[in-house]
Amino acid sequence: MRIAYCVLRRKKQSTHYTIRNTEKDVTIKIEERIDDLLNQMTLLEKIGQMTQVEKNSIEVADIKRLGIGSILSGGGGNPELNNPSEWRKMVTTFIEASLESRLGIPLIYGSDAVHGHNNVYGATIFPHNIGLGATRDPDLVRRIAIATAREMEATNVLWNFAPAVSNPRDIRWGRTYEGYSQDVEVISALGRAYVEGLVEMGALPSVKHFVADGGTTWGSSTRVSAENMALIDNDPTLANTKVGDWMFHYLQLGAWKLDQGISDIDEETLRRDHLPPYLAAIEAGALNVMASYSSWDGKRMHAQHYLLTDVLKGELGFAGFVVTDWEAIDQIDDDFYTAVVAAINAGIDMNMVPFKYHRFITTLQRAVECGDVSMARIDDAVRRILRVKMQLGLFEKPMCDTPLSVVGSAEHRALAREAVQKSAVLLKNDANLLPLPADTEHILVAGEAAHSVGYQCGGWTVEWMGKPGAITPGTTILEGLRAQSDTEIVFDPAGEFEQTAPIGLVVLAEEPYAEGMGDREDLRLSAEHIALIERVRSKVEKLIVILMSGRPLIITDQLPQMDAFVAAFLPGSEGNGLADLLLGAVPFTGKLSYVWPRSMEQIPLSAQNGQTPLFDIGDGLTT
Ligand code: GLC
Repeated sequence: MRIAYCVLRRKKQSTHYTIRNTEKDVTIKIEERIDDLLNQMTLLEKIGQMTQVEKNSIEVADIKRLGIGSILSGGGGNPELNNPSEWRKMVTTFIEASLESRLGIPLIYGSDAVHGHNNVYGATIFPHNIGLGATRDPDLVRRIAIATAREMEATNVLWNFAPAVSNPRDIRWGRTYEGYSQDVEVISALGRAYVEGLVEMGALPSVKHFVADGGTTWGSSTRVSAENMALIDNDPTLANTKVGDWMFHYLQLGAWKLDQGISDIDEETLRRDHLPPYLAAIEAGALNVMASYSSWDGKRMHAQHYLLTDVLKGELGFAGFVVTDWEAIDQIDDDFYTAVVAAINAGIDMNMVPFKYHRFITTLQRAVECGDVSMARIDDAVRRILRVKMQLGLFEKPMCDTPLSVVGSAEHRALAREAVQKSAVLLKNDANLLPLPADTEHILVAGEAAHSVGYQCGGWTVEWMGKPGAITPGTTILEGLRAQSDTEIVFDPAGEFEQTAPIGLVVLAEEPYAEGMGDREDLRLSAEHIALIERVRSKVEKLIVILMSGRPLIITDQLPQMDAFVAAFLPGSEGNGLADLLLGAVPFTGKLSYVWPRSMEQIPLSAQNGQTPLFDIGDGLTT
C-alpha cells in the first residue's frame, strides 16, 4: 500500500485536530481496525456512512448526530462567496462536525474537479479530457492530477469525481468531452495516469461511470422529455440547473436523447470497449468507482448485480467502494423502497442521495429490519468505505495544510499552458501557413470565442454548464497573441472588418454545456459560424480557423475555405497556449484521439461502416 503524499506530509506535521475515535494506532492492520470500529457501530451509524448528501441539503447537526459519511458539491455547488478561502471554510465546517460524532469517523468531501478544481473561482482550469487524449502523454496527465489534487487539498476536498473513463461511441453525447478517446487503450493509459497522480497526493479518485456510459443509443434516454417537463418542478436536479424554460430550447436541439440511456451492446462489446479502463484504474490504486445512470441488458447499471458485484468486485478484484451517481437510485423504480433494496443488494455501497437523506436512511434501515437487505451486505459496504478512509489516512489527519496560494498558482497555470500546447490538433495547414510568418504585420481576428475564457473552458466550470465570458481568471487567445507578438491585431467578434488583410483568424466555439444538456441531434456548424467564416474569408488572402468544441463537429463543407484548421477542443483557462502554437513558440504535436466524421451519416461510430471519415484517430500535422 502506498502511503499517500498528503498523509506522509500530514505525518510530518503536528496534528491540528484531536482525533476522538478509538483508532489512534495506525499501525494496527486496517482490517482489524475496521472490525473494531464495525463492532461499535449501530445500524444507523453504518447507514450514515453509506450516505452522501449535497452541501445545501444537509443540516450540519445531522452530520454529528447521524455520522454522515460524505458531503459533496454538485456542479456549481459553491459557497455563497466563491473563492478558495470560503471553499476551505465550508468544507472544514462539515469535516469538523463529523469529528464530533459519537465515533468521530471523518467524513470525506467530494467534488467534480474534472479539469482542475473547476468549481472554485480562480482555480487553474486544464483542458478537458478530449484534449488531453490528443496529447497521448500519460506523464502530463499524471502531473495535471497532482496539481488538481493540490488545489483540491488547499480547500480540504479529498474526493474527486474523476477521471471519467467513458468511451463515447456516439459523439452527439453531451459528455463526449469528458472522455479521453474512442481508443480504449488511450483511455486506459490516461485514466491510469490520472488515478496515479491523485493517489500519489492522498486524494480519492472516482473512476466513472461504470460501465458503458458512452455506449448508449440515440433516443433511448428517458431522463427528460417534453412530456415530463411539466413535472420539472418535482425534479429538484433539473430545477437546480436553473434552466427553466430554456429546457424546451435544449430539448429541441436533442438534449437528453443519449445521456443516461440504454447501452444496447452485447457483453463482448462491453468487455472490449468499456471495461479495460476500470482494470487499469484499479491496478493504479483506484478505491472508488461511480456507477453509471445508463442501463444494460434490461437493467439500470445501479441495479446490475452481475456487473457491480460479480465483475467489478469479484472478477476485477475491486476492494474499494461503489458510489451512486446523483439521485440515480430514484430512477431504478417508482417505489423508493424497491429501488433502494435493488441498488444496495446489487453492490452499491454509498448513495449520492443527494437531497432527502432522512428518507434514504430510514428506508434502508427498514429494509435491513425486514430482511430485504442483509446485515452482511451493510457490513461489506461500510467495511469498504472505512477501508478507503483509513487508507487515505483520514483518521490520522482528516484535513490538509496545503496553502490556499496553490489554487491558480503560476506553476499550475504554466502546466495548464503546456497541456494546451500539446492538446491542440493541426488538421490542415496549406502552404505551411502556420506558424504565422514572423513578419506578419497585421491580422484580423474574429469570433467572440477569441476573447472568452468561458468558451475555452466549456462545461463543469464554476457553474455546472459553464458559460461564455470571463467566468474565471485566465488568458484568452487574443490576449496571448497581443502579449507575445508585435503584429497589429484588429479584433472584431462579429468579423465586420472595413479593411482587408493578408491573414485572418476566426475562432469558433460550441456554447458550453454539461451532461445530457449537451446531447445534440445536429453537429454541423451553425449558420452564424458559417456566415462568420464567409465574412472574414472575403477580407483576407489566408484564413485560419480554430474550433473550440467538446467533440468533432461537421466542418466538411467549410474546410475548403480554410487554409489552416486547428481543433483546440476545450483548452481551459490558459488560452495563451494556443497563441504559443500560432506564433511558433512551440510546435503542434497533438494527434486526434477521436474519429472526425465527414457527415452526420457517419455518426455514431457504428454507422461508419468502413467509410473514410474526414479525419481519423492519430491524425494531426506537426510544425
Ligand atoms: C452528475 C454526473 C457525475 C457527477 C455527479 C456529481 O450527475 O453524472 O459525473 O460526478 O453528478 O456532480
